[in-house]
Amino acid sequence: MSISFSETKLKEVNGIIARYPDGKQKSALIPILHIAQEENGGWLDIPTMDYVANLLNILPIEVYEVATFYTMFNMKPVGKYVFEVCRTGPCMLNGSDDIIQYIKDKLGIAEGETTPDGLFTLKPAECLGACGYAPMMQLGKFYKEHLTKEKVDQIIEECRKNAGVNN
Ligand code: FES
Repeated sequence: MSISFSETKLKEVNGIIARYPDGKQKSALIPILHIAQEENGGWLDIPTMDYVANLLNILPIEVYEVATFYTMFNMKPVGKYVFEVCRTGPCMLNGSDDIIQYIKDKLGIAEGETTPDGLFTLKPAECLGACGYAPMMQLGKFYKEHLTKEKVDQIIEECRKNAGVNN
């Protein structure tokens, strides 16, 4: 099913497009994909990407190329909370493999999977530019740094609490 932005969202989108010179509307693609992903429940399906292509008057393939390149865009449905755990060099040297394994065991999911209650997705990522705080992960708009198993427990607990789920 295709999405359709509300008046307010369309206004926001047009404001973003207006930041760029005439004919360079494609430059607005990434911020608009973020909006589309948010509006589509956290992921981008083909109809949504086609909708964005239409908004920007570019080819659908131009949208697919960008959306599939960046790990911040999800190509399949994800949980309410996506744990994007960095696994690049500095984070790996500081124990990201253990953190990833711990999350897998604790939530009972493999990489790329979502818990059956739809709350959590584990999505290992490449360097997120916070190497000095390794090991770290991105959770929505926030970075969770210097991760330990205890911190992971705490983060999961907070997410469950925010989602209104006990234990
Ligand atoms: Fe993990 Fe850079 S290596 S943030």
